[in-house]
Amino acid sequence: MKFKIATALVAVTLAGSAVAQEAGDAAAGEDLFGKRCRSCHMIVDDSGATIVKGGRTGPNLYGVIGREAASVKDYRYKKSIEEAGEKGLVWDEASFEAYVQDPTGFLREYLDDKGARSGMTFKLREGAPDVYAYLASLTGEM
Ligand code: HEC
Repeated sequence: MKFKIATALVAVTLAGSAVAQEAGDAAAGEDLFGKRCRSCHMIVDDSGATIVKGGRTGPNLYGVIGREAASVKDYRYKKSIEEAGEKGLVWDEASFEAYVQDPTGFLREYLDDKGARSGMTFKLREGAPDVYAYLASLTGEM
């Protein structure tokens, strides 16, 4: 239930910012990725070319939009996100933006399990639509 409310809030926020601009700003998202995500996540394309050199704490985020959760082959995810992937969670605009703002809270709602936990300890307070636009633009998923 709470997830529905969170999704509605994201939608309202998006509608609000759509007055100023159509959708997330990919250039601002690229900047934010460098500041907030790169320490834990790299972006390496399917040919192995590095787009953003980053840390290995989290999985490679190339092509994450449109992909099933927890599906990077050589990355060892925690149990809760694996379960969410098995239940059919796919990263689209709504799920991605809700997740990056509160990974553990999102998984608890999605799995309806108060004991669920995310291995991602970071919460992005602002700019999720921009980061979404940036990551989606890398693979033309917009
Ligand atoms: C402190 C390290 C850290 C930071 C900073 C961080 N992440 Fe993560 N992220 C992780 C870890 C670890 C996981 C794997 C979570 C698990 O196994 O439960 C993850 C998982 C994810 C996933 C799920 C990927 C998949 O394959 O299903 C997404 C999407 C994601 N992060 C996006 C982001 C974005 C966008 C940012 C920046 C706004 C960010 N993360 C910042 C550590 C981090």
